[in-house]
Amino acid sequence: MKPLIKKLVESYGPSGHEDQTRDLIRAEIKGLADYVTVDPLGNLIAVIKKKSKSGKKVMLAAHMDEIGVMVSHVDSKGFARFVPIGGVSALTCVGGRVRFADGTVGVIGIEKRDNTSNLPSFDQLFIDVGATSAENCPVKVGDAAGFHRSFEEMGTRLVAKSMDDRIGCAVLIEVMRGLKRTPHEVQFAFTVQEEVGTRGAGPSAFGLEPDLALSVDVTRTGDTPKGVRMEVSLGGGAAIKVRDSGMIADPRIVALLEQRAAEGKILAQREVLEGGTTDAKPIQVSRIGVPSGCVSIPCRHIHTPSEMVDMRDVQAAVNLIVYTLERAIEL
Ligand code: CO
Ligand code: ZN
Repeated sequence: MKPLIKKLVESYGPSGHEDQTRDLIRAEIKGLADYVTVDPLGNLIAVIKKKSKSGKKVMLAAHMDEIGVMVSHVDSKGFARFVPIGGVSALTCVGGRVRFADGTVGVIGIEKRDNTSNLPSFDQLFIDVGATSAENCPVKVGDAAGFHRSFEEMGTRLVAKSMDDRIGCAVLIEVMRGLKRTPHEVQFAFTVQEEVGTRGAGPSAFGLEPDLALSVDVTRTGDTPKGVRMEVSLGGGAAIKVRDSGMIADPRIVALLEQRAAEGKILAQREVLEGGTTDAKPIQVSRIGVPSGCVSIPCRHIHTPSEMVDMRDVQAAVNLIVYTLERAIEL
């Protein structure tokens, strides 16, 4: 699974610009589903059709997009000003590198600051792509870039710029590979534009009309020095979401996942996330409503260029979803 993860996390795909990541996933899932389509917004949909009458339509969603930056102005010396795409902090930008769709790499610099006691702001930052004028600057207004960092392994921990949510995409692909027999119709949605307000998942759910849905995304942990007060820890297993700031998971789905985790002896932990939400939020309120929950991957340093997950949690998430889908679901 690690070569797949490396490929996914190093790919380019800031929100609204998911095509390179989508092509990659499409190649990985070739032959694994009964049909594959791209919907009008760009969500990649792969469906394994229902095998039994009693089966349910189960939607699994993971977002392809990542946070990034967009050029808003290029000055006469060829320095590009930018705005964030999604929840980027100016604090983690300085000295970082970004990569554009065509492979152009830029370094994020900062103006001289007289008062360094306050946080840097985006209007003090610029991207240096090595240009000397607006004319020879290879990037223009509206060009989007993702952060540029290589994938690293530290024992069971994996670090990359876009674990959020390529690790969810990797989990979905592994579920597709691992699913031997299921009575259910399984609808895999690799969604667009999650990081700018969960915009892709709602329309995809409207089209798929699932009976229930799970989003697979990262969640925060409470196990770093003076971090958020939160029970989830890295290496503590797949996290079963009870609530986040955008949704309350359907209690029947929480109960189902906890029961299956216990039966299958799969390491799992409960999640209550104070800040942040996932694709399950718009899915839950699509059409007449869809019972929804979330299998989360614990992740440290979220929305920095060095997001960290633990391979054991990733594997537990795959196992929990496969184990659940191979058995009957009664809500
Ligand atoms: Co995110
Ligand atoms: Zn995410």
